[in-house]
Amino acid sequence: MTERRTGGRARLLLGGACAVLIAVSSVAVATVARADLTGPPGTTLKAAAERSGRYFGAAMGGDRLSDQGFLTIANREFDMMTAVNEMKPDATEPNRGQFDFRAGDAIYNWATQHGMRVRGHTLAWHAQQPRFWGSLSGSALRTAMIDHINGVMAHYRGKLYAWDVVNEAFAENGSRRSSNLQSTGNDWIEVAFRTARAADPTVKLCYNDYNIENWTYAKTQGVYNMIRDFKSRGVPVDCVGLQTHFTGGSSLPGNFQTTLQSFAALGVDVALTEADVTNASATQYAGLTQACSNVPRCVGITTWGIRDSDSWRGNENPLLFDRNSNPKAAYTSVLNALNAASTTVPGTSIPSPSAPGSVSPSAPGSASPSSPGSASPSTGSPGACTATYHLTNSWNGGFQGEVTVANNGSAPLSGWTVRLTLAGGQTIANVWNGVNTGTSGTVSVRNADYNGTLGANASTSFGFLANGSSSTAPVPVSCTSP
Ligand code: G3I
Repeated sequence: MTERRTGGRARLLLGGACAVLIAVSSVAVATVARADLTGPPGTTLKAAAERSGRYFGAAMGGDRLSDQGFLTIANREFDMMTAVNEMKPDATEPNRGQFDFRAGDAIYNWATQHGMRVRGHTLAWHAQQPRFWGSLSGSALRTAMIDHINGVMAHYRGKLYAWDVVNEAFAENGSRRSSNLQSTGNDWIEVAFRTARAADPTVKLCYNDYNIENWTYAKTQGVYNMIRDFKSRGVPVDCVGLQTHFTGGSSLPGNFQTTLQSFAALGVDVALTEADVTNASATQYAGLTQACSNVPRCVGITTWGIRDSDSWRGNENPLLFDRNSNPKAAYTSVLNALNAASTTVPGTSIPSPSAPGSVSPSAPGSASPSSPGSASPSTGSPGACTATYHLTNSWNGGFQGEVTVANNGSAPLSGWTVRLTLAGGQTIANVWNGVNTGTSGTVSVRNADYNGTLGANASTSFGFLANGSSSTAPVPVSCTSP
């Protein structure tokens, strides 16, 4: 996991010393299926994941672009792609200020042309660094890292689903891993995230690491404490990627779901970003999929390759397809677990007026005790928008809610504000896809910068985490525009 890349650099430098800036194709942005747990079971990994608003991803190297066997499965089964090496710092900035996006773009273009979204991997890491970073230290290296993030993110601005901004920065004992980046100062990670947010305000910004699946493990706690600190101080982190390499002797911990839920409760998405399991244990694959499916903010699973022959640990046969492209028993276990998901990703569900438990957006009504998956009444200003509250998850002492904001009129809306009355003892801890004023009593939430415009009959949503009991549902009292 930590070896440095050497031989690959020669191929990437073939284009010479000149900066090579090739635009990514302008293709239609992949549309994300809306969650519908009542729909028929999916017969592919992506269809099964999309039922609950999740994705199912794979990683590919550029050499797979000429591997028809790989491409056929990728196109059929997966809806998210990660480049194995091609978007890493040594690949994208081989010489200072000279960016080369050819290899990354080739993967990006193929994936998006086949309806997939793309996770960017990775911007700052102790491994696979540009050679010139090796001769820098202190503020010069810090500046080079910032310049790198800005240069790469400018190229992919608005194109990617997420970026692994920082990769593998913790040691097994829960302290920071020693590296040249760490030596620039303990704040290097938050500087990377702040730089990334300014460079692309809409892409999800993730911290990604391995061996953080076991909740009681020191490294997991170290990363958790950093994310908690970041969220408390407003450092922009949107997601945590748990690599989920159950290879080389490690295996699925029984408390994996606790880990996912604990990170999610900090107000970040979680994702399984590089999954593989020694000998593709069907039980462990089912277990890791169930853990994700049970946590609303676990947004998707990516396997690190597709067939065993694609794996960095091919001798452990850790993937879902064998060397002849046949699905293994683990494939079926993952498919079944995805189809059995009982939670949906916040913001992906469509409240259906006819669905059991849902209430018409126009119906006045009182709040009633609700359970995950139920919808509460909503109201709205005539001619403007309507807001519908939906409980997506709850636990002892807290809950997670989602409010769908709909424009039911025939004219577009520009900006919206929802007023929401919380019950006694309920306080909002975190809001996403919206900006709140107030945390208790009647609070208002206005649109974020990127989701204020609503076309006719269009809808969007924001989510929040709250402390307190979910037994009395927050009541949306108005939705106005602007
Ligand atoms: O492309 C050259 C080839 O020309 C040369 O002949 C050959 C000889 O060694 O090397 C090839 O480059 C290798 C490259 O993978 C492409 O296969 C590098 O040596 C090798 O170091 C590199 O390994 C990558 C590794 O990250 C480096 O740390 C793996 O492919 C890649 O799967 C792996 O991915 C990491 C994630 O980024 C982070 N999490 C762990 C994961 C698995 O280690």
